[in-house]
Order: sequence, then C-alpha cells, then structure tokens
Amino acid sequence: MDPSPPGPNAELIVAASEFAAAVKEFNGDPVKQRQLLKEADRLRILLETPMDVLMKQWEMSQCISAMNLLVELDVLEAIPKQGSISSKDLAEIVKVDESAIARALKLVVIFGICVEPAPNVFALNDNAFVFLKGAAREFFQFMIDQTGPFYKLPEYFRTHKQEDLYDLNKSPYAWAVGMEGVSYYDAISSDPRKLHNFNFTMATSEQVMPIMGMFPWASMKEQVEADTSRTFAVDIGGGRGQLLKAIQKEAPNGFGAKMILQDRPDVLAPLTAEDIPGIEKMSYDFFTPQPVKNAHLYLIRRVLHDFYIPVCKEIVKNTASAMGPTSRLIIADMIMPEKVEIGTEVTPYWMDFNLMMLNGTEKSKKQFEEILDVAGLEIVKIYPFAFGCHVNIECRLKTAASS
Ligand SMILES: C[S@@+](CC[C@H](N)C(=O)[O-])C[C@H]1O[C@@H](n2cnc3c(N)ncnc32)[C@H](O)[C@@H]1O
Repeated sequence: MDPSPPGPNAELIVAASEFAAAVKEFNGDPVKQRQLLKEADRLRILLETPMDVLMKQWEMSQCISAMNLLVELDVLEAIPKQGSISSKDLAEIVKVDESAIARALKLVVIFGICVEPAPNVFALNDNAFVFLKGAAREFFQFMIDQTGPFYKLPEYFRTHKQEDLYDLNKSPYAWAVGMEGVSYYDAISSDPRKLHNFNFTMATSEQVMPIMGMFPWASMKEQVEADTSRTFAVDIGGGRGQLLKAIQKEAPNGFGAKMILQDRPDVLAPLTAEDIPGIEKMSYDFFTPQPVKNAHLYLIRRVLHDFYIPVCKEIVKNTASAMGPTSRLIIADMIMPEKVEIGTEVTPYWMDFNLMMLNGTEKSKKQFEEILDVAGLEIVKIYPFAFGCHVNIECRLKTAASS
C-alpha cells in the first residue's frame, strides 16, 4: 500500500492509520499511553482550522476558571464519593448561587471532569477524583497560583531591563506577587499555603517527571557495602524525600549506609521520621560548600533547571568540593531538544516557560557540560527515560587521564 496517499488529507490519513494500528497494539503500558496521547494531539493539530486553535484556548481557559471555582469553593468536595447530588442541594451546602454551580459543572463535564446523569444532577468520575483533597488538588492550586503572574509577564517586560530576567531577586513571579527583591523560593515561603502546595506538588508529580527507570540504583550495592562509613546518597534540594524514598525500593536500607535529605529548613521542618523512614534530614543551603564529604552519591533532581547557568555553576562547584574520586553526582533533569518536533512530549516546553517565572531554564547537553566543566566534573553516562527528554546524568570528578 502507498504509505502516503496523495490529496489534501494525505498526512491526516497516514497519521490516523498509524494511530489506529498503535491503538490495536496498546496493552495499557504507561509509556505507550503517553506516546498515543501525543499522536492523538498530532491528529487534532492536523484537523484544526486556525480558528479552532484560538477557540481551543478560549475553551480551555474557561474550563480552568470553572475548575478553580469548583475547587476553591469546595463544590467538588461536597459531591458524594458515590452516587450523585443536584446542583440545588450543592448550592445549599456551599452557600453559592445554584445556577453558578450548575453552569461551572456543566462546562467541566463537557471536558470529561464529573458526569451529569440527569439534568442538573452531578456525580464524580475518575477524572474528578484527581481534584479532591489528598489527591492532586494542591497541584491544581499551585498551577493557578502561577497563572496570575503569567498574565502579568507583558507588564514585567515593559517595566524591567532585559537583564532583570536573570537576577535572582527580580523574578517575574516575585514581582507579580508584589515581592520583588526576594528570590522565588523566599516568595513562596512567605505564604504557608503556597509553600505547602509547592512541596506537595513536587512530592507527587512523578507523571510530570519520572523518578525511576534511568540510573540503575541497585548497581551501587557492591561499592556501598564495601564502605558503609561513607554516606550512600545525599539528595540536595530533595524536597520531601520523594527521590530517596523511591531509591530505597531498589536499594533497601541504603545498602547499610546513610541516606541524607537536604533542603531549606522550612521545607524539612514538617517532615517526621515516619514520613521519611531510614532518611536523615539536614538543613542546607546549596549556595554554600557541601558539608557531607565523600558520599557515594550526590543527587540533584529538578534543581539546576530552576536556575540559569552562572548560578548552576555555583551549586555544582559547591557539590564537587565534597566529592571523592569514587563519588558520583547524578543530575536528574531534562535535556532540551534542539528544535520543536510536533507530536513529541510537550513537558520540556511548558516547563521551560514556567521556569522563566523563577529565573530558571531547561538546558541542552552542551550547557550541562559547560556547568560541569567549571566544577572539575565530567559526564560518565547519560541514562534516558523510555519516553520524552528525562535523563539521569552520571558525573564524576575529572581524572588526570581525562582532563
Ligand atoms: C523544583 S524543587 C525539586 C525538589 C526535588 N528535588 C524533586 O525533584 O522533587 C527545588 C527544591 O530546591 C529547594 N531549594 C531552593 N533553594 C534552595 C537552597 N538555597 N538550598 C537548598 N535547597 C533549596 C527547594 O526548597 C525545593 O525543594
């Protein structure tokens, strides 16, 4: 069969048959599921007219606004976990006009969130459960918290010098929330709800950035067991210990050596020993020299992308100052593609745009090499994830032979 039939819909026909074939093979594998979603997006892009593109943005912005209303007024929380409820009864519980609730719910139902089994009667579905307390409600609120400042970006650029974007105390986010003069992290720390939502999001967003399936943590067993007086792993800026806890599954009990979680004091303070079993917490500012010397592993996940290159050089130099000849640094981040390819993962692009709000950016392999070089480090191996741009970059001190 001709793989590219002629005619105005040729590309669409090929994409649709490839998609149909891939769906037939689909067995529920999460990586395949992400690839299929991207192909479905590509099909949609091929079908859309320019006006459809604009309308999609309008529709999505309204859906997000409706969800914000339903989440913030606890409307979703008031819908029974099983069964259904009328908008009239919901209005009585949350003390908000019934039609406002029904209109917001109908809009999100059309986007697949909740169902309307009878007129003006609503029930939760699997998609709605994600927005409930204890699921990913904090992630949604974190997203909304970033959105207001996004809309102020034009005004930020109108009122700032170009170089201000690279100044840690002049981030677009801090400016937009009226806190110019402090860093992004100090700005979110000033509001307990924002700090909680940020840390919760980081601890639960494995779908945004996979943790496992790259560096083979179990392969460290022999080296660590041979010298358990050295710390096994130090996670620098590790949040609530999400990476170390995941590593414990492949490295039970840290192979008998210490596991240390480092972060800012207010991030670590709420964590109890039960939250991070077998992990020691240590307040540490990564703009100062690393105090844990000669560990087997130093981990920096999703931290370097929060900063531009000169700042990353400082952080990595502080880490390298503690490393011994067999210590390794594992950087978990994304490697930014050189050029956008339609139908590939969207995460690096939205993430990079989002990072602009806090003086950060995703980086290319060359940029990582530049950062490592000034710290006297070199790349040993890059471990890519099965899908997208996620990688673990294994690094060590340069040896006399390599430098
Ligand atoms: C984007 S989060 C990544 C968290 C975690 N590594 C992960 O991948 O989920 C960046 C982390 O760096 C921490 N951080 C920011 N500034 C810091 C500093 N000066 N010293 C230590 N940690 C810092 C933040 O509190 C936050 O937990």
